[in-house]
Amino acid sequence: MEHTLVLVKPDGVKKKLCGEILARYERKGLTISALKLMQVPCELAAEHYAEHKEKPFFQELIDFITSGPVLAMVLSGENAVAAVRQLNGATDPLKANPGSIRGDYGLAINENVVHASDAVDTAKREVALWFPEF
Ligand code: CMP
Repeated sequence: MEHTLVLVKPDGVKKKLCGEILARYERKGLTISALKLMQVPCELAAEHYAEHKEKPFFQELIDFITSGPVLAMVLSGENAVAAVRQLNGATDPLKANPGSIRGDYGLAINENVVHASDAVDTAKREVALWFPEF
């Protein structure tokens, strides 16, 4: 059994896509093990995106993820990390296949609707960061 962290980012919440996105994960067979709607503190955003600290768009990442409520969740199931990445599609919505969440609902790489852990190790770190009680 694997766990992975998923965020519906502020653009997804604003576009009222939370229900649609949750339904896709559930239909795939994943279990919602934890779920919270939250305003992201700057410190959490910086910690979450620490690996991008040297990138030119780091501040943009922080500004965006703190710009409005985020729906954070832990999804669980066999191969949960890979399954969620498949459903989300490529990071750049213009490269993501139609039928994927980003392919269907995203327009630009900086506002790409969802975040998900990119590997099993990352998932452990991100779940502990966002859901310390989990
Ligand atoms: P996410 O999965 O949240 O993790 C890192 C994020 O960086 C990624 O989604 C994209 O939204 C964002 N990103 C990647 N490349 C760029 C870029 N060139 N400009 C702005 N944001 C980017």
